Amino acid sequence: MQPGIQNGVRVTYNVPSIMRDGTVLHANVYQPDDGGTGSYPVLLTRMPYGKDLPAGVSALLPEQAARRGYIVVVQDVRGTGASEGDWSPLLHEAQDGFDTVAWAAQLPGADGRVGMYGVSYFGFTQWAAASQHPPALRAIAPMQTWNDLDAPDAGVLWRNGVLELGASVGWALEMGFDQMVRRYRGNAEAMGRAIYGLAREVDALPTSGYGELPLASFGPLARTGLDAPNRIFIAARDEADVVAAGRIARAYELELPVLHIGGWYDLFLGGTLRNFQEMRNRGHQRQWLVIGPWTHGNVNRVQGDLDFGFASSGALMDLRIDLMSLQIQFFDYALKGLATTFAEMPVVKYFVMGANVWKTSKSWPPEGATVAHWYLHSAGHANTASGDGQLSNEQPADEVTDSFTYDPANPVPTVGGATLLPSVLRPGPRDQRVVEQRHDVLVYTSAPLEQPLEVTGAVSAALYVASDAPDTDFVARLVDVYPDGMAITVTDGIVRMRHRNGMEAREEPLEAGTFYRIEVDLWATSLVFLPGHRIRLDVTSSSFPRWERNLNTGMDSAAATEMRTARQSLAHDAEHPSYLALPIMA
Ligand code: BEZ
Repeated sequence: MQPGIQNGVRVTYNVPSIMRDGTVLHANVYQPDDGGTGSYPVLLTRMPYGKDLPAGVSALLPEQAARRGYIVVVQDVRGTGASEGDWSPLLHEAQDGFDTVAWAAQLPGADGRVGMYGVSYFGFTQWAAASQHPPALRAIAPMQTWNDLDAPDAGVLWRNGVLELGASVGWALEMGFDQMVRRYRGNAEAMGRAIYGLAREVDALPTSGYGELPLASFGPLARTGLDAPNRIFIAARDEADVVAAGRIARAYELELPVLHIGGWYDLFLGGTLRNFQEMRNRGHQRQWLVIGPWTHGNVNRVQGDLDFGFASSGALMDLRIDLMSLQIQFFDYALKGLATTFAEMPVVKYFVMGANVWKTSKSWPPEGATVAHWYLHSAGHANTASGDGQLSNEQPADEVTDSFTYDPANPVPTVGGATLLPSVLRPGPRDQRVVEQRHDVLVYTSAPLEQPLEVTGAVSAALYVASDAPDTDFVARLVDVYPDGMAITVTDGIVRMRHRNGMEAREEPLEAGTFYRIEVDLWATSLVFLPGHRIRLDVTSSSFPRWERNLNTGMDSAAATEMRTARQSLAHDAEHPSYLALPIMA
């Protein structure tokens, strides 16, 4: 037997734990089969995706962790799988998390120290537990998860006030399957009918479902008969208790070792970076950040239309370590105090796309970048990739404004990016050429680069825009154009004009014909634009179904069904120097 690695693992299914209100949650517990002689830290994950299903072993293989000297607890959260109670997304995770950590720390054979791990929702359950400061919680490894529910820039549901329609509806429907199984247990016919109904709605989302209005009583969710709480991902804006339950910021007060894991094409990239930065800003030193070229829940080498190479994959990152072993080494270091190679782990390890190499740094963003402004230019016809839009480092002088008509009845389709949509709408680095043929997409492209240009850090666009509608949206997207014309999306962002002064400020309708300077936050990337490639910025007013459409009326977006077209203008002249801001690494 290898030292420190147990051969036998004992699994106990459906181990109960009683929450403070008497609700019983169930977990599978994996532990070294040592005849009860040892004492071990606990690795806990709390998920709504079924502890007995493949998701239960997706983030980390419990037997393997148990063989390495841990008690691993995989728990169904309240109202899901084998646990009691009603499923109400987010609402109970902070308190149940606190109670479960305390319970897990006292399991037979536990040494009193608890670490948590998991992806996405079960990344959130780590932050939610940490927000309650459970004394036994000593380390967490959240992967691809969000920050405060109502954070303006990077929450799970909204981006600067715009609903992440695609992800939230798809997710709410998929969560419905477990709910229907629980509701109709013992009545096979009713269960079959309910599941068939759900499946039909899921299948119809890309073709018709996403387009339904009003959002407040969204048809695909309403028709399934899901309980109201399952619909919060549409309506949570108005649910103060859910918004409060979705705030995790109290966790930032804890001096807690955290391994933050993210993906450049993950819809929670913004939240992952924010959580890392908030912890570091508070002086917590034991923070590590790993970002691969990954999409949500997918750490393979091929993403979207690109192959980033074997070393990019979570199976053997940088040809050194797989993602599961990295997490175990982190816990060995943070929970057991072992001098593993994790002691030499750089603070930040990120994958540079294009060059397809991993780099390290002491901070995020890495030091040493200078921000370059790439100004938008055209002779007034930047519409489509065949238009006259250009990007250069020269400031504009007298130039003609570009314009397009945005029709919410015919929105610009989402093609890839940091999305979580039904699988027919694949995420990741995908070719935008179909989208760039549309007249409602303004396209600004640089000359071919002579030298490689590494962009690493936060990306944004400052745009001077006008509309004849009282409210509308602007979407900006950074694109890497290959010598053969392939146009790969890198990262994007959206501004809802009524929120242009920030989510804290009063909503203000637009005055027709007035140009407003907006800053579109495109989150971040790390990418080398290779010689012969061109830098491109696409500007439009929708990306559907990723984001809810702005109906251009200024009415409440949840209740509205009426829509109108909007005539949009983008200025780029001496007085209105619109530009793309890129952090360039020397
Ligand atoms: C997830 O766990 O993957 C998830 C949760 C909420 C919204 C979207 C995705």
